[in-house]
Amino acid sequence: MLSKIDVQKFTTLIEINTLINSNFEDIHALLTQILDSATRLCGGEASSLLLVNKETQELYFEAALGSRLSTVKQFTVKLGEGIAGWVAQHNKSIIVNDAEHDIRQLRVTSETVDYPPKTMLAVPMRIKDECIGVIEIINKKEEREFNQDDLEWLEIFANQAALAIINTQSMDKARSEIKLLEDQLTAEEGFHPLIARSPIILEKIDVIDRVAKTDSSVLILGESGVGKEVFAEQIHLRSPRSGEPFIRVNCAAIPEGLLESELFGHVKGAFTNAIANRQGRFEMADGGTIFLDEIGDLPLSLQAKLLRVIQEKTFEKVGSDTSITANVRILAATNKDIEALVEKGDFRSDLYYRLNVLPIYIPPLRQRPEDIPELAGFFLTRFMAETKKQFEGFSNTALEAMLSYSWPGNIRELENCVERACVIGKGKWIEREDLFLNSPSSIPETEGGDRNLKTAINSFKTYFIKKVLEENNWNQTETARALDIQRTYLSRLIKELDIINPKE
Ligand SMILES: Nc1ncnc2c1ncn2[C@@H]1O[C@H](COP(=O)(O)OP(=O)(O)OP(=O)(O)O)[C@@H](O)[C@H]1O
Ligand SMILES: [Mg+2]
Repeated sequence: MLSKIDVQKFTTLIEINTLINSNFEDIHALLTQILDSATRLCGGEASSLLLVNKETQELYFEAALGSRLSTVKQFTVKLGEGIAGWVAQHNKSIIVNDAEHDIRQLRVTSETVDYPPKTMLAVPMRIKDECIGVIEIINKKEEREFNQDDLEWLEIFANQAALAIINTQSMDKARSEIKLLEDQLTAEEGFHPLIARSPIILEKIDVIDRVAKTDSSVLILGESGVGKEVFAEQIHLRSPRSGEPFIRVNCAAIPEGLLESELFGHVKGAFTNAIANRQGRFEMADGGTIFLDEIGDLPLSLQAKLLRVIQEKTFEKVGSDTSITANVRILAATNKDIEALVEKGDFRSDLYYRLNVLPIYIPPLRQRPEDIPELAGFFLTRFMAETKKQFEGFSNTALEAMLSYSWPGNIRELENCVERACVIGKGKWIEREDLFLNSPSSIPETEGGDRNLKTAINSFKTYFIKKVLEENNWNQTETARALDIQRTYLSRLIKELDIINPKE
């Protein structure tokens, strides 16, 4: 017949088991709960749960009750030291009923900061017979002593705690493997992750979520390197076509003579090198999405053909009269001022209006500073893995420098900058110097932090004149013309401002 206390113990064990099996996410809370139940049921006053750090051969406090965790948290216990250290080293349980005189206690200070021990109970937590941590309970209530029964119960609780840890570890492992596989899958299709923190970009994501559901053409606009291609990928991935092909065409990279056959395919013999029938990118994209990058560079002759695909969904292969129908969604992007191209007659206005049904403008990085630390961190993690180097992150001054820089090359420039810093960086943190952000395109600060207007204007003049001189190979006549000033005035300024050609 079970005693009342045993029934209580069994009930508690069942509760803990249920928690472990319910995939309880917060391992720290779970371990604290196990420790709490164990302490209560063994009749202790205080307790700690310590875990072994294999690298340092020390135990650290994962949970503590009866004393403040924040107090003990700063301590570690070396293997072999103190009661917990002894238990971890010998992988054996122990009852200490005269702690003050126990030899192993002599070097203990940290384990029991808040609780001078009189009696103690300590047992190992094991995974496959290896000790991964220790649970210790301090001072049996009412001046009693711990007995074998307490020890056996505590061992059961310690097993539960170890089980919870194994569960979390295998869950973490499974999660990271799934993440890795997912990443590999997306990488194989050439898709890139989209990092977004700023309200302005989160809003854009909202827009593309809605746009993705339709079949309308989308024109993505924005400066170079802002992520136009990444957004095009997202429109496809969030669309009902996501399981179908995503075909990219860089209209600027393919020679004009080959572009038509690249887009629409050709039949054997259509031109000298057409030795076999060839599928075009529109045909490959059937059922899916085609992304026409740098659409501003599409030659006029092909603009007419593209317009027809959009309107009638049909086209012909080069050298063939047979019309082919393809169900393709068209996304296009450009960093050019496409309206100016239309005005100049370099881009058909009817095509522009067709594409511009749903224009999406991606703002430059300098207008969304909230994204900078997020993106920098993301790139740092990636390059640390690639270079097998470790950094804690960016120092505050490095972050400030990144936040005040204007990023003319946008995210691509940030990516390159972090990659370079990761290669160059030697310290624990990526420092401001590692980033090399003092590019010649930024206006230098006035020397010595002097903020009076005259020095500021002179500093700007120096910077500006030097830049135009560089652009004109230090030819003063041409520079004066570019600046729209007299040559003599320019040479006076050069002298006054002490501008020197570094190559001389
Ligand atoms: N929001 C983002 N999160 C993560 N990476 C991004 C993001 N935006 C852009 N990138 C990365 O920055 C680089 C430039 O992006 P992308 O090629 O999409 O720019 P783009 O606007 O098409 O530039 P271009 O006009 O020069 O073609 C890529 O390596 C891309 O993966
Ligand atoms: Mg691009």
